[in-house]
Amino acid sequence: MAETALLELDRVQAWYGASHVLHGISLRVHQGEVVALVGRNGAGKTTTLRTVMGLMPKAEGRVRFAGSDLLPLAAHRRFHLGLAYVPEDRRIVPGLSVRENLRLGLVAAKAEIDERAAIAEIAETFPRLRERLDQEGVTLSGGEQQMLAIARALIARPRMVLLDEPSEGIMPVLVEEMGVLFRRLRDQGKTLLLVEQNVEWALRLADRAVIIDQGEVVHESSAAALLADKDIQDRYCAV
Ligand SMILES: Nc1ncnc2c1ncn2[C@@H]1O[C@H](COP(=O)(O)OP(=O)(O)OP(=O)(O)O)[C@@H](O)[C@H]1O
Ligand SMILES: [Mg+2]
Repeated sequence: MAETALLELDRVQAWYGASHVLHGISLRVHQGEVVALVGRNGAGKTTTLRTVMGLMPKAEGRVRFAGSDLLPLAAHRRFHLGLAYVPEDRRIVPGLSVRENLRLGLVAAKAEIDERAAIAEIAETFPRLRERLDQEGVTLSGGEQQMLAIARALIARPRMVLLDEPSEGIMPVLVEEMGVLFRRLRDQGKTLLLVEQNVEWALRLADRAVIIDQGEVVHESSAAALLADKDIQDRYCAV
């Protein structure tokens, strides 16, 4: 693993209106690493991802990605740097086919990638989508829509993907498929920041783990160490 951090948050604070939600989050994700970001409901996990992506009304501190300072950049510019985001609510666009939804991932990243080749590559990685390229995206099952949201994030070959609870509400067979996919992405050198409530599942996939609680980092260790530490899991991750 390279020593330089691909993504680095330094004393990041964020607010929704008058509500101060993040109180100085510092964390690093190295190139090629999978980091699980866990913590109980309302801890600030989604807010941390939204801050990185430029979706918070107010944020302070420093966020660096691949050598660029992100906080001064508009949200769409962050996609162009090779950052991709799979939000919790998936945002599959109604009226568009699976193929057209995938195309949006290329448009958002402004990537100079041949569309046919990119869709063929995605179809190979996601057999469930290959069979349904011309079906309307919102008619897929919940799990298939989550796969489509992940595929749309991957299609422009980003350096890093932020995922917000990808396994939520998905049947076990698809969660297992997703685990295989994430392992493959890790083997290919992709960098992932994975927010999950499904803590054990995430820790089995991740290299490192960060716990946040009430908008602060309260624990950082290898994923294996946290997996073995039920006390800390119970203290900070119990729903
Ligand atoms: N749009 C909003 N306006 C005001 N407060 C918000 C808003 N969204 C979230 N919050 C508050 O910010 C805090 C952090 O929320 P966040 O969604 O980041 O938590 P989370 O760790 O992702 O939780 P969960 O596991 O439930 O998804 C919570 O106290 C929440 O109530
Ligand atoms: Mg959340």
